[in-house]
Amino acid sequence: ELKDNTVIVVLGASGDLAKKKTFPALFGLHRNNFLPNNVKIIGYARTKMDREEYLKRVKSYIKTPTKEMEESLNDFCKLCSYISGQYDQDDSFINLRKHLEELEGGREETNRVFYMALPPSVFIPVSQHLKKICYPQKGIARIIVEKPFGKDLQSSRELQRALAPDWKEEEIFRIDHYLGKEMVKNILILRFGNEFFGATWNRHHIDNVQISFKEPFGTEGRGGYFDEFGIIRDVMQNHLLQVLTLLTMERPISFSAEDIRDEKVRVLRGMPALEPKNVIIGQYGKSLDGSKPGYKEDDTVPKDSRCPTFAAMVAYIKNERWDGVPFIMKAGKALNEQKTEVRIQFKDPNESVYIKMNSKLPGLSMQTVVTELDLTYRRRFSDLKIPEAYESLILDALKGDHSNFVRDDELDASWRIFTPLLHYLDDNKEIIPMEYPYGSRGPAVLDDFTSSYGYKFSDAA
Ligand code: BG6
Repeated sequence: ELKDNTVIVVLGASGDLAKKKTFPALFGLHRNNFLPNNVKIIGYARTKMDREEYLKRVKSYIKTPTKEMEESLNDFCKLCSYISGQYDQDDSFINLRKHLEELEGGREETNRVFYMALPPSVFIPVSQHLKKICYPQKGIARIIVEKPFGKDLQSSRELQRALAPDWKEEEIFRIDHYLGKEMVKNILILRFGNEFFGATWNRHHIDNVQISFKEPFGTEGRGGYFDEFGIIRDVMQNHLLQVLTLLTMERPISFSAEDIRDEKVRVLRGMPALEPKNVIIGQYGKSLDGSKPGYKEDDTVPKDSRCPTFAAMVAYIKNERWDGVPFIMKAGKALNEQKTEVRIQFKDPNESVYIKMNSKLPGLSMQTVVTELDLTYRRRFSDLKIPEAYESLILDALKGDHSNFVRDDELDASWRIFTPLLHYLDDNKEIIPMEYPYGSRGPAVLDDFTSSYGYKFSDAA
C-alpha cells in the first residue's frame, strides 16, 4: 500500500550514504515504477547550492550506461529539489516545512518520509526538529534511520530514549541493509518452505555453523569512522547477527512483521553474552609484497590504534534446538577475497543429496519458485534483475512494512550480547589485535581457532 502524494526528504543529501546508496536506490525504484504516484524528493544538507548544481550532483551519483537510462534519470531529476539548512536551527526547518507545503500544494493529507542519511552526532537534534516543525498533521510520518545505533547497550538505549517521545515505534524504520539482500530474504523461505530443513535443522544433525564476511579492501579513506567502531560494531553486531538470527529462529506464528520480529527477539534472548575466551581479533598490516598499506598507515587512523579490522567469535544459543552448537562468526577487511557466506556442517553428511526446494523468486515480491539445490543466482535467475538491498528496503518503508527492519527490543537484545565483549576489548589496553597481511586469509591462528570448535576443513576455507 503505497501512499500517493508522498514527499521523501533525504537529510544529509550530500553525504556518502546518500551518494552511494540512497539516491541510486531511489532512482532504481523510479525506473521500475515502484515509487508512489506524484512522489517528490527533497534533498537537505548544509552545503549552499542551487537546484541546478544539486541536480548535477545527483546525476553524478548515478550510472546511466544506456540512452534510455539517461532519459529516465532526467525524468527522475524532475522529482528532485534541494534545500540547504543547519541541523539544529528552527529557522532551517521552518524553511524546509515551507518547501514541503509548496510541493504539497495545499493538500489536506500530507505524507512525509524522512530518510536520515546523517552522522550520529546530528541525529537527535534533527529528529527533534523534524518532529517539532515538519511533522505532518494528517497523513503518514515515517523516519528511516541507519546505524550506528550507539556503540553499546547504554548508548543505544540513550538514542532510543531520545527518539521515543517524538516518534512512535511504528513510524521508525531502522535499516540493517543485510535484511534487504535477496539471499538473506531467502533464508526464511528456504528454511520454512522446505520440509527437509525442518527435520535436520537442530543440534542432533548440525555440528557447527560458520558465517563469514570477507572484504578484499581496507578502510580506504573511511578510517576516521571505522577506528571509532571497529569490525565488530561495523558488521558483526548487526549484519552477521541478523543472518544468524534468521538461520536459527523458530517458525513465526505468521509471516507478519511483528510475528517475525517476536521470534527473532526470542532467539536472541537465548543467546548468552559473547565470552572473550571464544574470540580472536586481528588488524591488517602491509601486504606481503608491500604494495598495500597497513591499517595504521591510513592518515585518519591513530598510530597506536588497537581497533580490530578482523574478528572471529563463537556464539551459542541456549535452547532445545541449538544447545551446544557453535556458531562461528568471522569478519574482516583487507582479506584475500570478497564474500559473505554461511556454511553448515552436518554431523553425518549424506554422500549425495538431490533436493528440490521452494525458494524466493528474486525481485521485490515474495513469490516462490521450485528450484534444485544449486542456487547460483547468476545461472538460475539470469534473466531477472536482483534488486539492490536499499531499493527493497526503501520500498518496504514507503509501504509501511516493518518485516525487514530492526525493532527496538531486537536492537536492545543484540547489544546485550555484544556489549560485555566490546567493553572488555575497549578497556583492556594490553589486548592487541594480531597482525595479518593485507590480502591474506586473516590472522595465522584462525584455522586452529575454527578447528577447535569442530569445523572440518574439506576444501579451501
Ligand atoms: C556496511 C559497513 O554496513 O556494510 C561497511 O559499514 C561494509 O564497512 C558494508 O563494507 C558491506 O556491505 P555489502 O552490502 O557490500 O556486503
